[in-house]
Parts: sequence; structure tokens; C-alpha cells
Amino acid sequence: MCGIVGYIGSGDIKSRLIEGLRELEYRGYDSAGIAIMQNGKIESFKAVGKLCNLEEKIKNFTARSHGMGIGHTRWATHGKPTELNAHPHMSENSYVVHNGIIENYREIKRMLQENGINFLSQTDTEVIVHLFETEIKRHKELFDAFKATIERLDGAYAVLLITKKAPDTIFFARKGSPMILGRNGKGEIFFASSDAPLIGEAEEVAYIEDGTIGYVTKKTIFSQPDNLLFVPLSGDKLTAQKSGYRFFMEKEIYEQYDVMSDTMIGRVLDNDIAFEELDETFMEGVSNIKICACGTSYHAALTSGYLFERIAKIGVNIEIASEFRYKKPLLSPDTLFIVISQSGETADTLEALKMAKKAGLKTLAVCNVDNSSIVRLADATILTRAGIEKGVASTKAFATQVMVLWMLSLYFAKSRKSVDEVSIRDEIRYMGYVPKVLQKSLEVHEKCKRLSKRYLHGHGFFFIGRDIFYPLALEGALKLKEISYLHAEGYPAGEMKHGPIALADAELFTIALMPKTLLYDKIKSNVEELSARDSTILSISPQMFDLADDFILTHPHKHPMLEFFEMMVVVQLLAMEIAVRLGNDVDMPRNLAKSVTVE
Ligand code: M6R
Repeated sequence: MCGIVGYIGSGDIKSRLIEGLRELEYRGYDSAGIAIMQNGKIESFKAVGKLCNLEEKIKNFTARSHGMGIGHTRWATHGKPTELNAHPHMSENSYVVHNGIIENYREIKRMLQENGINFLSQTDTEVIVHLFETEIKRHKELFDAFKATIERLDGAYAVLLITKKAPDTIFFARKGSPMILGRNGKGEIFFASSDAPLIGEAEEVAYIEDGTIGYVTKKTIFSQPDNLLFVPLSGDKLTAQKSGYRFFMEKEIYEQYDVMSDTMIGRVLDNDIAFEELDETFMEGVSNIKICACGTSYHAALTSGYLFERIAKIGVNIEIASEFRYKKPLLSPDTLFIVISQSGETADTLEALKMAKKAGLKTLAVCNVDNSSIVRLADATILTRAGIEKGVASTKAFATQVMVLWMLSLYFAKSRKSVDEVSIRDEIRYMGYVPKVLQKSLEVHEKCKRLSKRYLHGHGFFFIGRDIFYPLALEGALKLKEISYLHAEGYPAGEMKHGPIALADAELFTIALMPKTLLYDKIKSNVEELSARDSTILSISPQMFDLADDFILTHPHKHPMLEFFEMMVVVQLLAMEIAVRLGNDVDMPRNLAKSVTVE
């Protein structure tokens, strides 16, 4: 949720921290702060709002070379986004940054307050630094004091702590929230919540394991347990830039064409589907599938439900991870448990995966971030290969998830012998057309731009669709509400008459997904019912529909999945253009964060 960075070295500490935070700003941007230690003194700066506010504040501060620092960009959990609640939090001698949630902070805070300690913030994090100061008095070694502090914490954390008592040391601990340690040949050491700030800076990185605690100085890296495994980090920063697009979201919508080929390469073969990540026996003993995910990834899961049942003829049950966690689910060993996550760090999905593993189920992750917590935990992983997704509103990650799941349904169909070879070949042929369907269409984009001005008011949007277009309707509605802040709902078209149609009037906007290859007449009837009640209708379809007020014409295709991918781009562009007209920050919409590592 929040992003943390740390640095030791002789580079420009201030810019190292700020540049690192910039790469992590997608994780939270309610406030930001840094603390820099030089010559035994610590200077700390904080600002509310985006990172640029902090930059403005420190523009006249010059850090000398040699030293170290920690930084944080916050997505508020405990306490409002204020300067006092921004990290780093301080005590007499020490400063801390934290990502996660300390569940037992109230009882620790009460205990510390009873001992006369004053708190400045409303955060859970502040207890860490005061607890550390208390433990210092009880232990000879600072590391022992840090360890004793961490042992008192329940919940999830990635913590970096610096103290004047050890002016050359950064203490670190990780449980449940991601943290990576990087280093290079120039003697620089970096910490970060994800790979992004380390690309181009660190030559090798260690993905710190859950339950690891340690410290780093310029000359020493110490961890308990002694489990840090450094691996080379390669990467090109340019890929993470906007490349001339107005927003990352726009760039990522257009990137879908390229990344889709990456997703398919080596997997969609001439007449076959192959996953080198899965061994031949993977489906042995599996008689049904359960999928858990959140948000957009959940919509990809819902889409796959239709495909798995129809193509692989295997029963599928799909659940929102946060619901699954607490329902005391019945899990049986013949279930393949699939989790889907762009970030691989979503707390609810990760927890669902842990439960499945504990129950002894075979687990599979469909994920975009290699070495993320989910990837490291699952028995097998299929990476979606979408590249870094920076826009908070997920686009290319969704597209590649759906593609991987479509390929998987075929792979399972093959291993279960549930479809004949001709059908497999046909399906593969259509898969080959997907990148083309995702190609940039300036015409469609222009149309979305023009139409957007008519859809800025009203009392709500209904995105409707049937079959796989129902999850796409859910996704269209989620995209719109995330970035436009307008109320939007996705609905199965056939359900409208069971209640929601009561809302229909000219101020209710219906976005109707009307594919020609799947249940066209059925959805047409549903849209007619809405039109009869004067709802304003925007139809997305390859076939003109005279009852629609507005129309976005898609290409005729022979396979529903091709229609699906083309309409997906339309709803993404439409949401973006409406949000742009409303003057919203498309890439960093209010109240959201890219990676939801709290429950
Ligand atoms: O990283 P994940 O795919 O696990 O994230 C799940 C959701 O938080 C995420 O899809 C969220 O709904 C996006 N903001 C949607 O655009």
C-alpha cells in the first residue's frame, strides 16, 4: 500500500530517495517524507499530498555525500493524511518508515503512554519507534533492541529504522509486506518496496523473505535468518516512462497490442498450447477449480469461469478473496486453487492462497510480478508478462490475465481430453488474432473522446452484458468509477428486469455490450426494455441498433473472445476520456493505491 525506500552510499542521498519514491508513488500518494542521516544528525521532511509537495519543501536542502536515508510515500490506513501522520515517525533518537498494518498497536500504544511517552500521530506506525527506544534501555546491542521491538508486533510490516545511536546502520524487518534489498559495485545499498526504484541503480537484489530481520551498513549486510539470496537485476527504466502518452493509463491501453504478443509467445504454438511452467502431471487428481482474486483480477476470474466450464468442461467456483478468507471454506484436495493478481502483493489474495496451501491444495498463481509474495508462495505460476503497470486503474494487466486464462482453459481441455483436436486448432487460430484486435484505433479513440462530453452527469451508469460480456461490464463499470468518481454498476443484462430497471429514465446511462457472436438477440431484448423506459443508451456493437442514442461500432469478428478484447479497449478508453473531461488525475485517482497490501 505504502512505498518505502532506503539508501546508504556516497551518491546524492536526497535525489536517490526522491527518485525512488517517485517510482513508488503509485502505491500511495496521501503524503510523503524522508529522513537523512549525516554526521550523526538526522534531518527529516514531510509533506501532505503528492511527492511534488515534498520536493518543493526540500528544494533548498542540500545533502552532503556519504550518508544514508529512508523515505516513505503513504496510503493512509490509521489517521488522516496529515503531516503529523506522514512517515518517517520519530522518537528521541530514531526514525522509522513502515508499510503494512500493526494490528496490536493500540495495546502497545496504551502501554507506552502509561510509561509517559507522548505520541504525535494517530498512526499505528509510531509505536514501532517508541517501542524501539524503550527496548534500547533493556538491551546492550541495538540489534537486539530492534529484534525485541519487531517481536512485539502483530500484523503486516516492512520496516526501515535509523537511529543516531548507530549512525551508519539501517535496521530492517519484513513480514507480510514486500521489501527488496539491492546493491551495486559502487558500494551503494538500496531498499525498496518493489523492483521499480532499483532498476538502473542496483545490480543485484535480494527479495527479503517474510520473517527476516537484520541490518545493513556500508560494509555489512546481516540478516536473521541468514537467507538473503542476491540475484542479478536487469531492466530498462524507459519502459516505465510515459513514452509520449498523456497518462500511463493511456500508454498502457495502447501497449496491450505489444504485451499480448509477449503473453502468448512460446505458449500459443501452431497447433498447440504449451506452458513450460506446468509439468504434464499438473492436472492429475484435479476434478474442479476454485479461483480467488480481488477487483479487476476478480473480473478476469469471472470471465475465465465461462471458459473453463465451456472449453475444459471442468467445474469452477470463483470467489472474492476478502470474502473467502472468513467464510471457513470447505476445501477438498481434488480442487486446483488459482489466485489471480496483477501485483502479487494483494493481502486478501495472498491470505486466501495461504489458506489453500495449508489445506494441502495444489495452487497456481496467474500474476504479473515475478518474485512477488504470491508468486513465491504458489506451487506454480504463470506470469502474464504485461510489464510494469503504473496506472492505478488496471488495463493491460486485465487483458493479459484474461488471455492467460483463455489459454489455460485450452491447456486443461487438452490434458482432460475434453475437446477434439479440430476445436483446439480453431481456438488457437482465433487467439492469434488477439493482438491485431488490440491495435491502436484512432477512430474509436476519437469517438470515445467526442461521446465523453455527453456522459458527465446523470444519476448513474449501468454497464450491461451477458455471458463473458457480463464480467466485462463489471470491469467497464469499475474502470469508470475508479477514475471518474461517477456511480457505475455492471450488471448481467438479463437481471435488469428483476429490480434495477426501476431506475431507468433519461438520466440513467446504459452502456450495452452487444456482441454479434454471443446471445445478440437476448441482449437486444434487454436493451429494448431499457429503451422503452427512456434510459439513454450507448451501444457498443458491430451491428447498428436503431434504439441506441449513441453508438460505437466495433469490427465484426467470428469468435466472442475477439469481440471481448475489442470492447474491452472501448470501455477502457471511454472511462479514461470521461475522467479526463472531468479534470481528474487518471493515473492516481483519489483514495486508491496500486497495490493493496492491507486487508
Ligand atoms: O494486484 P491485484 O490484481 O491483486 O489487485 C487487485 C485489485 O486491487 C485491483 O485490480 C484494483 O481493483 C484495480 N485498481 C482495478 O483497476
